[in-house]
Amino acid sequence: MEIKVFETMQDASVAGAEIIASAMKGAGHFVLGLATGSTPVPLYRELARRNKGGELDFASVHSYNLDEYVGLDGSHPQSFRYFMDDNLFHHINIDPANTHVPSGTGGDHEADARAYDEMIEAEGGIDLQVLGIGNNGHIGFNEPDSVFHAGTHVVDLTDSTIDANKRFFERREDVPRHAITLGMGGIMRAKKVILLAFGAVKADAVRALVKGEVDPQCPASILQLHRDVTLLLDRAAASKL
Ligand code: PGA
Repeated sequence: MEIKVFETMQDASVAGAEIIASAMKGAGHFVLGLATGSTPVPLYRELARRNKGGELDFASVHSYNLDEYVGLDGSHPQSFRYFMDDNLFHHINIDPANTHVPSGTGGDHEADARAYDEMIEAEGGIDLQVLGIGNNGHIGFNEPDSVFHAGTHVVDLTDSTIDANKRFFERREDVPRHAITLGMGGIMRAKKVILLAFGAVKADAVRALVKGEVDPQCPASILQLHRDVTLLLDRAAASKL
């Protein structure tokens, strides 16, 4: 695992964009795994800037997002589909048909989850996965649990996650209680992973990820077993390493 610490989240995000740009260079068909939350916003801004400047071409990119709230469709401003359109897809030359976010509104979540994994597999797997990390160590919405879940699945969100995400909703009661998330198998099969974490609020989770036991109570700790992970941290997130 490579750990890079930056003065600011902007510097870390530019470094993240650089890693993505080099991985995409000359690759042709490229499968990019994407994350939501506040963390990747400056990264997406930098990717959009490079795309606008003609440095980075998304015409052959197929994107797969990690997760979505159960019950919110893409027109809901707090849905992750809406977030991705708003923060990235509408600002780059990716074909909207090549952008994928799990559906949280289908009738059969289990079938939708299986179909999502099959689609990724048919693409040849994820070439590069962008991750954030939850205050509780989750990646995607793989919440602390007694086991690691391999496939895409439906999860009950923990109180910690509901508290962390209530800032995006009018009331805490409005935060969905369930989500559909890519599992650990999908994340671990990604050929390359970059994980961004900013702020003191992430310092404990980052420490558990790097120095703790590999334990499903800190889902991100499984990344210790991945052979190509780069952590891009600001000083505050790295302060407990
Ligand atoms: P954040 O969320 O980027 O909004 O802090 C990260 C996460 O929960 O994975």
